[in-house]
Order: sequence, then structure tokens, then C-alpha cells
Amino acid sequence: MNAKKSTENVRMQISAFGKDVMYGLSQHPKSISSKYFYDAEGDRIFQQIMEMPEYYLTNCEYEILSQQRKEICDAIRAFDEPLNIIEFGAGDGYKTRLLLKYMLENKAEFTYYPVDISNHILNELETNLSDEMPALDIKPLNLEYFKALTTLSKIKDRRNVILFLGANIGNFKYNEAENFIGRMSSTINPGDMLLMGVDLRKNPDTIRLAYDDPHGLTESFNLNLLKRMNRELGADFNTSNFSHYAFYEPVDGEMLSYLVSKKNQVVHFDALEWSVEFNTNEFIHTEVSRKYSIYELEIIAESQHLEVVKHFFDTKQYFVDTLFKVK
Ligand code: AVJ
Repeated sequence: MNAKKSTENVRMQISAFGKDVMYGLSQHPKSISSKYFYDAEGDRIFQQIMEMPEYYLTNCEYEILSQQRKEICDAIRAFDEPLNIIEFGAGDGYKTRLLLKYMLENKAEFTYYPVDISNHILNELETNLSDEMPALDIKPLNLEYFKALTTLSKIKDRRNVILFLGANIGNFKYNEAENFIGRMSSTINPGDMLLMGVDLRKNPDTIRLAYDDPHGLTESFNLNLLKRMNRELGADFNTSNFSHYAFYEPVDGEMLSYLVSKKNQVVHFDALEWSVEFNTNEFIHTEVSRKYSIYELEIIAESQHLEVVKHFFDTKQYFVDTLFKVK
């Protein structure tokens, strides 16, 4: 084997994660996509985040889906035809269960396609849901959002209902969110529906506390990204050389998270045969969790050929599950 060939082979073995990390850490400012939070360890920490009182989002959406499930499901099932229920970013299904159970109890005929980037959480979801609801027809899809849209365009045999819960839309910037919602609505058919869970704008301190909690769980969640690079890319990050910084910007409604380097340091990646330098106070931008107003949701609906059927709120009006119909 000649030298050129062996270099190619090494390059071929770099994962998508490795390529994205190398690109993101070569940028100014440095950034890594929040989609890489979700390895088995990240899934586990996120489940703990959902249980803490400061992370109000989960409880609010649970309240909406449990107390208003009849109205939500009846609106979704308006025509009593067989459905495809496709859920983007399904996670552990803690909240979706409520809707699926109600639908089964009321003899709805449907196939449930949970889509998630984490294969680990999809396996957990499938096991839990199949135990609880043996009659559930479930077809997990271990895909990223945009790849799942392509798959979705091929399963248009029935009426489609897309679930996009848990404020997952928040991980897009406004323009990207508008674009993604447009892609979803143009992939399904007129009359099909989208139920989207969105975290609303509220007191900035309430929001910041949810992402900068006193238990240090969000900090561990963010730092796990460094540990994941150590595990999967042979990097030598020392997590105690970085701190979690989270700040809410109320004009754009963006909750922003960063990892800040505490000192000048060089980190080496064995699997990438590559090193990167960090200066003191240099940061990696790791996440945006955007908050919306009802007005913004209605503007997006209007521009993306959607009609708002109804906004379902929790009692505090912290969160909304909005049901849209494709025009
Ligand atoms: C899973 C994307 C909805 O943005 O609120 C929780 C992830 N990040 N704490 C969010 C998250 C920090 C969460 N989403």
C-alpha cells in the first residue's frame, strides 16, 4: 500500500462528529452543534435535567398533554382515518406516551414513527412503550431531522401528524426554525397536522435559571460534550479547565450556552491527528434554546402555509403546544 492510499484511509475513518468538531473548533468564534449533546451519557443527564424544578419546560408540557389530551387528540383525529404519527426528537417519550395511550384507548388506527439522533434513547423508548402498550405499532427511525424529512416524504400514504414537542424547535435560530417548519409543512399534505411544543418568552431570570441551575446538572450536560470528544475522538480535554456560561438575551429571545476556557491550553485529538489551541476566556458556543412569543408563532404559520388550529397553554402560560394544519 503506498503512502497516499494510507492517508486516504485515515481520512475515510473520521466520523461526521469528528469532521464537525474539527470545522467548528477552527472557526472564530468556536462552536459545536448542540445535537452532539446526546450520547448515552448526555441522554442520562438530560433526563435528570427534566426532573429538576428549575427546568420548568417538561412539567409545563406534561400538564398540557395530560390535562388537554382529549381535546388535542380529538382535533388530530378529526377525520377518523388511519394516521402516521411522526415525532421529531422523540427522546424518552415521557410526554408523548400520554397522547399515544389516549389514542389507543380510543381505537385510533396509527403507526408511530419516533425520530431521534440518539440510538440509545430510541431503544429505551421502544422498550418502554412496547411494554406499556403492546398494541402500539412503532417504527423507530435513528435519523437527524433533515434526513428524516426525506424519509417522511416517502411515507405519505396516510394522513400525517407531525409531533415536534419539548421545545426542540428552540435549538434552531429564528430563520432556521422558519425554514425547518416550512420544510415540514411542504413535506406533508394539505390537511395534515403539526403539533409543536414551544417555550414561551417570560421573565428572563426564570429562563436563565432553567439553563444555569444550582445543582450543576446543566453544567455537566454541557461539559459532557468535552467528555464525548475524549471518548469518541481520543481528545485530552480536562473538563476542570472549562466552565459553563449560560445567558438569556431577551431581545431575540435566545438562551445561549457556552464553554469558557479557564486558561491558555492546547487540546490534542488522537483520532483526528489534530490539535487546537484555546486562549484564556476563549469560548465554544454550544447551544441556542430560543424562546417565542405567540405573535412570532403566528407570523411563522402565516409565512409557511400553516393555519393555527389552536394554542394549548399550561396554567402558568410558560409553554404552548400549538396545533397547526397545512393549508
Ligand atoms: C432538549 C433542546 C429542548 O433546549 O431546553 C436543556 C436541551 N439544554 N438544558 C432545551 C437543554 C440545556 C433542551 N431541548
